[in-house]
Amino acid sequence: MIVLGIETSCDETGIAVYDTKNWEAGQAAGLGILGQALHSQVAMHREYGGVVPELASRDHIRRVLPLLEQALDEASLPLESIDAIAYTQGPGLAGALLVGTAFGRSLALALNKPSIGVHHLEGHLLSPLLGESAPRFPFIALLVSGGHTQLMAVEGVGQYELLGETVDDAAGEAFDKTAKLLGLDYPGGAAVSLLAERGKPGRFDLPRPMLHSGDLDFSFSGLKTAVLNQVNRFSPDSPDDKAQFDADLAHAFVESLVDVLVQKSAKVIKQTGYRDLVLAGGVGANKQLRAALNARAQRDQFQVHYPPLQLCTDNGVMIAFAGALRLLAGHQDGGTAAFDVKPRWDLTAA
Ligand code: KG4
Ligand code: ZN
Repeated sequence: MIVLGIETSCDETGIAVYDTKNWEAGQAAGLGILGQALHSQVAMHREYGGVVPELASRDHIRRVLPLLEQALDEASLPLESIDAIAYTQGPGLAGALLVGTAFGRSLALALNKPSIGVHHLEGHLLSPLLGESAPRFPFIALLVSGGHTQLMAVEGVGQYELLGETVDDAAGEAFDKTAKLLGLDYPGGAAVSLLAERGKPGRFDLPRPMLHSGDLDFSFSGLKTAVLNQVNRFSPDSPDDKAQFDADLAHAFVESLVDVLVQKSAKVIKQTGYRDLVLAGGVGANKQLRAALNARAQRDQFQVHYPPLQLCTDNGVMIAFAGALRLLAGHQDGGTAAFDVKPRWDLTAA
């Protein structure tokens, strides 16, 4: 089955063509990626310091057709060879979701093919199956994106149990807000990570929120406030080098955030007895987090699985793949032409 995937939930327009043939034959899932095209709106939103929803929707409209052509070209397939269409139905920005949903549903009707609305986080969660060291079910997933920070038990496709989540800011949000405080452009996760590499350890002792809370929840807004307090404390008359100050502060921020994520992940592994942890979502691209998780996994004897690096942030491939697995399991949209989007959508209810 050849599935077209459409992602438009936030500020990336992603289209991909995925063939389930290899997966169904028990071969590596990544072999099924036939074509993919992506446009990031980051440059457009940068001057506003964050995503402007109306601009995002309009840009998705502009991009979706040319990207479809590009993905089909790469796959060397005509549109008629598509067997089913998967699109991100939520969660995300309502207007942005409407573009992909309306496009996906209309195309499915025009081609007389089935369609399926995909939960964006399910796309992230299953994307490590597309990587080289793919995990087997069941596994624990640490989902760290711009909007979410969750620990989930994944028993199989569609079988998810939420074990813990952030009570305030998401990990990516904390990265982006810290970036802003340090004068870095939006979205600043990767830039903070790079800056932190030049920082010296030990200069700042930032909090590790909820580390000993006894549960698997997270909180990152206090960490961001602690960064703000240090930034405000820096005097322009200080003989200190501001660039080094920022790097040292970025280092301490990353260290705190990573420490909390790693310790809670190790805790859930210990509690459940599962041996596999999947890291997914945009923050999953973070070098320091990967290094710390790998070290902990070696110590505690569990395995960490990552999606291919380019599939960590939003893309059409993960939506095509998650949709394909749902379709293979017998799910699909109802027969009417009516559709809706789900800007807020609990994954365990998907
Ligand atoms: O999953 P994603 O592309 O979009 C959402 O669904 O939210 O994640 C975007 C988030 C942003 O907050 C971005 O700053 C963060 O992922 N991010 C990173 C890195 N690359 C992206 N954070 C830390 N280190 C990185 N290398
Ligand atoms: Zn995402």
